[in-house]
Amino acid sequence: MPLEQVRIVQDGLENSMSNTEKRKSWAEPFKIKMVELLRMTTRDERVKAIKEAGYNTFLLKSDDVYIDLLTDSGTSAMSDRQWSGMMMGDEAYAGSRNFYHLEEAVRKYYGYKYLVPTHQGRGAEHIISRIMIKKGDFIPGNMYFTTTRLHQELAGGGFVDVIVDEAHDPTNQHTFKGNVDISKLDRLLEKVGKEKIPYLSIATAVNMAGGQPISLENLKKVREWSLKHGIPIIHDATRVAENAYFIKKRESGCQDKSVAQIVRELCDLTDGCTMSAKKDAMVNIGGFLAVNDPDLFDQARNMVVIYEGLHTYGGMAGRDMEAVAIGLGESVDHEHIRARVEQVMYLGGKLLDAGVPIVEPIGSHAVFLDAKRFLPHVPQNEFPAQVLAAELYVEAGIRSMERGVVSAGRDPETGDHRYPKLELVRLTIPRRVYTQAHMDVTAEAVIELYENRDRIKGLKMVYEPKYLRFFQARFEPI
Ligand SMILES: Cc1ncc(COP(=O)(O)O)c(C=O)c1O
Repeated sequence: MPLEQVRIVQDGLENSMSNTEKRKSWAEPFKIKMVELLRMTTRDERVKAIKEAGYNTFLLKSDDVYIDLLTDSGTSAMSDRQWSGMMMGDEAYAGSRNFYHLEEAVRKYYGYKYLVPTHQGRGAEHIISRIMIKKGDFIPGNMYFTTTRLHQELAGGGFVDVIVDEAHDPTNQHTFKGNVDISKLDRLLEKVGKEKIPYLSIATAVNMAGGQPISLENLKKVREWSLKHGIPIIHDATRVAENAYFIKKRESGCQDKSVAQIVRELCDLTDGCTMSAKKDAMVNIGGFLAVNDPDLFDQARNMVVIYEGLHTYGGMAGRDMEAVAIGLGESVDHEHIRARVEQVMYLGGKLLDAGVPIVEPIGSHAVFLDAKRFLPHVPQNEFPAQVLAAELYVEAGIRSMERGVVSAGRDPETGDHRYPKLELVRLTIPRRVYTQAHMDVTAEAVIELYENRDRIKGLKMVYEPKYLRFFQARFEPI
């Protein structure tokens, strides 16, 4: 299909709300054309594999995994339109036509004026942090994200959590746990002064809180605050479409807006974004920084050539940029986003029905097991979420990820472990990859593990890398 046609079809998708909206049941708005076969393993094989991986699911070989819920990052299934777009990659070093398509898509769906492509989200975080943060600055945000905070720290800044308290309580039913507590912003401003706050770091569908949304109403208040004090907002837009779906479902006055409209409204309340296109936009690799300020753009465009690549590809191939451009359009399609989020709800609902402790309300991209309540007999310094993820793998070949004390890392000042209130195991659902039956198998395995939880013992860390230790740390049973 010629590229122009691909893009026309894509444009037709974005408001395809249909009668299925009125039905309680939903189905995937696609059919499967090609499949990837899965390998089943025996328990003995898995016991050996997890031992060799140092009880860290990041160190398992993918061939040893049956259902891979490690992450939704770069693991989604691209559409036939995205694949056909890839065949239209213009791999010119400079001025690739796919860059201009991507720029057009970012302007259309997110509204930001200037685009700087990067190889993935952290490339954009690196650039924005290096440009905007000076030593001794403070960057308030609605809960930290691992790579985001590390880049802020490496640039000399310190992250300050200003999310509502409810976000730290896995049982609290607040429907917008991604909201910012404005009084926390006021307190920080009073303490350090506005010169020391280069920007507000605001995420939509806050990952570390359990995929929890921020409301439009709250973001509007944050915007008022930002304008009043002249402090810009940099938006982590990685899962903005998922956040928009929750707003449509839950926020009064938003039911009749399309997800695409809400995405645009959210972005319009901010000054720029960092984006990992590996999530909402469903590509295997890619990301970008997008801003409205021409001076900031100029600096970012200059810096990207040092660390990523020329400013019209920034670490992506032309074909990748095309797939992102098409994926952005697909990400705001109502039927798509509904099926995506409702599949996560389906898995979470099954676990709740069986009494398994999970973060509530269920988030947009993952179900988070609450390891503190799942394994109350394992103290946090014996890494309950880490061992729970390892045990789930042994139980059923299902790979998940620790989001607790290991991910939180060490305090750069004191050198001690940070002990986050949330000690979680993330079962992250890639988009358009697994079926309802995979969710059933996953729920069954988690429930079985929960019934036998008393036999699970803690771990000790035997190797700890300096940065982002959760990726490569190794453990042994105590
Ligand atoms: C909320 C959020 N921000 C930033 C990133 C970093 O993006 P990337 O993995 O593409 O570098 C991620 C990735 O998991 C994320 O979930």
